[in-house]
Amino acid sequence: MSKILIAFYSRADENYFCGRLKTVKVGNTEIVSKKLQELTGGDLFKIEQVQPYSQGYNDCIAEAKEDQKQNVRPELKVYPQSIAVYDTIYLGYPNYWSTMPMAVWTFLEHFDFTGKTIKPFCTHEGSGLGRSVSDIQKLCAAARVEKGLALCGSRAATCDEELKKWIGA
Ligand SMILES: Cc1cc2nc3c(=O)[nH]c(=O)nc-3n(C[C@H](O)[C@H](O)[C@H](O)COP(=O)(O)O)c2cc1C
Repeated sequence: MSKILIAFYSRADENYFCGRLKTVKVGNTEIVSKKLQELTGGDLFKIEQVQPYSQGYNDCIAEAKEDQKQNVRPELKVYPQSIAVYDTIYLGYPNYWSTMPMAVWTFLEHFDFTGKTIKPFCTHEGSGLGRSVSDIQKLCAAARVEKGLALCGSRAATCDEELKKWIGA
């Protein structure tokens, strides 16, 4: 039977919303991912680094930027035991300087995505998907990587119609 996985990276704490700093308990991509779970009935998996970025926005920016510059692969807390049962993987992440947070790179390099369909979705504050989809295709060369959906992070709570349209519900 065809099963769906929704794997996502998302950071709570301090972030910009429509030009203002605000502290939140649940990140934008997590909000979207939970909606997708309700719509698709897929399994939800949160990609979490052992060493999370700082709660403060400016510190987080500095740490994440350095990780990207150094091309590091942050260690993850845990992985799904296997992705063998999944044909379709919705992959969610925030846009960090035109691509995915480096922890998503760690996640993608851990598994063999041969024959899988990856449906990327990102939340952002203006940059859309950036080059993330081509980065995913490079990392998962034997997967079918679809065009992807970009959602404005500040409007994550009200993206239901866009999501339904995207998944064809
Ligand atoms: C470290 C960092 C880098 C970011 N870089 C960008 C960027 O280059 N372009 C953009 O549009 N938004 C950028 N953002 C905004 C996030 O993509 C946006 O707020 C997203 O919805 C956050 O998702 P999350 O709450 O699930 O972590 C950045 C945010 C952070 C924390």
